[in-house]
Amino acid sequence: MTKIAVFVSGNGSNLQAIIDAARQGELPAAIELVVSDRPGCYGLTRAQSAGIATLAFNPKDFKAKGHYEELIAKRLKELEVKYLVLAGYMRLVGSVLLERYPRRIINIHPSLLPLYPGKDGIGQALAAGASETGVTVHYVDEGIDTGPIIAQERVVIFPGEGRDSLEQRIHAAEHRLYPMILRQIFQEEKTWPGVR
Ligand code: GAR
Repeated sequence: MTKIAVFVSGNGSNLQAIIDAARQGELPAAIELVVSDRPGCYGLTRAQSAGIATLAFNPKDFKAKGHYEELIAKRLKELEVKYLVLAGYMRLVGSVLLERYPRRIINIHPSLLPLYPGKDGIGQALAAGASETGVTVHYVDEGIDTGPIIAQERVVIFPGEGRDSLEQRIHAAEHRLYPMILRQIFQEEKTWPGVR
C-alpha cells in the first residue's frame, strides 16, 4: 500500500472517487490524511465520513505559505506519507512541500493542459468556444498547472452544450482517470522505484 495524502478545497468528488477505488481494492493506496485550506468544505466532511484523519487550516492565519506548509510537512512525515494527491486544491504549492516531495505531488485539472490553466478550466473552454477540452493528470511544480503531464483524456464539447452538462461529463472523466493513473504510478513505483 502506498501511503498518500489528498489535498482538497471544495466539494471533494475526486477525493470520493479515490476513497471508493481504494475501498474496492482498485487502488493500492492508504489515504492517511486529507488536507484542506478551507475549513468546513464538503471534501472534509467526506473524509470524516470515511474515517480518514484531516488537517484543515486557514491560510490567512499564517504570515507566509512556508509556515502552514511546515505544519503540513510535519504531519505528513509522522504519517510516512509518500505521495501528495491534489484533488481540487485551489492553491499554489510552495517550496517547502515541493522540495520535500520531488515528483511526488500529483494534480488533476479539468482541461487539456497547457490550455485553460488556473481557475475554472471548464468555463474558460466554454468561453473560448472550444469544440473539445478534457482532463489532465500531471506532476506539480511551482507554476499554475504547469508540471510534466502524465496522462490526458479528451472530452468533446457538443454544439450548444451548457455548463452543467459539460461539467458533469468532465467530472465523470476525472473520476475514472484519476484513480486509474494513480494506480499505475503506485504500481510502477513498487516494481521500478524511481523510474518516473
Ligand atoms: C476538479 O474539476 C479539478 O480538476 C479542479 O477542481 C475540481 C474539484 O472538484 N482542479 C483545478 O481546477 C486545479 N487547477 P472536486 O472538489 O469535486 O474534486
